[in-house]
Amino acid sequence: MFDLTGKVALVTGAGQHVGRGIAEALAAQGAAVAVNDIVETRAQEAADAIVAAGGKAMAAPADATDRDSVQAVVAAIEAEFGPIDVLVSNAGNSGANPARPASFVDMDPADWNQYVDINFYAVLNGIHAVLPGMIERGSGRIITISSDAGRQGINMGMSIYSGGKAGALGFQRSLACEVGKHHVTVNAVSLGMIPGDWDPGPPKGIPLGRYGEPADVGPAVVYLASDEASWVTGQILSVNGGVYRNV
Ligand SMILES: NC(=O)c1ccc[n+]([C@@H]2O[C@H](COP(=O)([O-])OP(=O)(O)OC[C@H]3O[C@@H](n4cnc5c(N)ncnc54)[C@H](O)[C@@H]3O)[C@@H](O)[C@H]2O)c1
Repeated sequence: MFDLTGKVALVTGAGQHVGRGIAEALAAQGAAVAVNDIVETRAQEAADAIVAAGGKAMAAPADATDRDSVQAVVAAIEAEFGPIDVLVSNAGNSGANPARPASFVDMDPADWNQYVDINFYAVLNGIHAVLPGMIERGSGRIITISSDAGRQGINMGMSIYSGGKAGALGFQRSLACEVGKHHVTVNAVSLGMIPGDWDPGPPKGIPLGRYGEPADVGPAVVYLASDEASWVTGQILSVNGGVYRNV
């Protein structure tokens, strides 16, 4: 089960942390993986590590918020590996710039775009580049990495991030209806907190008693990418330690 041999996958923002874990998991199941990141060295290091572990991977550096760059990198991947079967839109958070949490009323409207661009438009850019080929071939897997912040209120000064994530979830519900007849599925994985290089303090209110790790996410993506998930679309799979509501 869940064999991805012969499939080609593109994972955006996969140079580190969650995205890198997803890329490694897809490669371990046999997929050829294009590792996208806006930071070229990160993309290259992650791709090299997959190859060193016996997998198939290439670096695919590009700015996921730039539609022309995404179209160009998709063309480069398809020239190298063949048509993209699986798109994982993982690049998110505050994009290439650091997050500046603030209450909405205090926020400079000039800061809105950085959240909407990466969490909504970058998702559209990737899908727009790969979807025509998926429709033509009559198969495809579109997976978006979302956040519980897109499904419920959080009081962390990240309201525009929540809006961007929620926008992508609303979009995918309708897209799933549009493309189901072409056997293209469209799903999301909604994450709880997965600390990187910051200390969030002791976990509170997480039924499974710990924060997540990148290794928790890859298997969920592998499932949605697999042939075995061919009757699953328009869904949001929570990978969050069992948190139902954490406001
Ligand atoms: N870590 C968490 O606690 C958490 C929780 C919920 C949801 N998420 C979601 O999971 C996903 C991954 O999060 P993470 O914490 O691993 O992120 P991260 O910030 O650690 O890594 C993101 C990667 O994306 C790259 N990137 C940034 N802007 C880019 C762009 N414009 N084009 C291409 N690449 C770009 C960065 O260089 C970086 O390597 C995001 O969508 C995020 O919103 C994360």
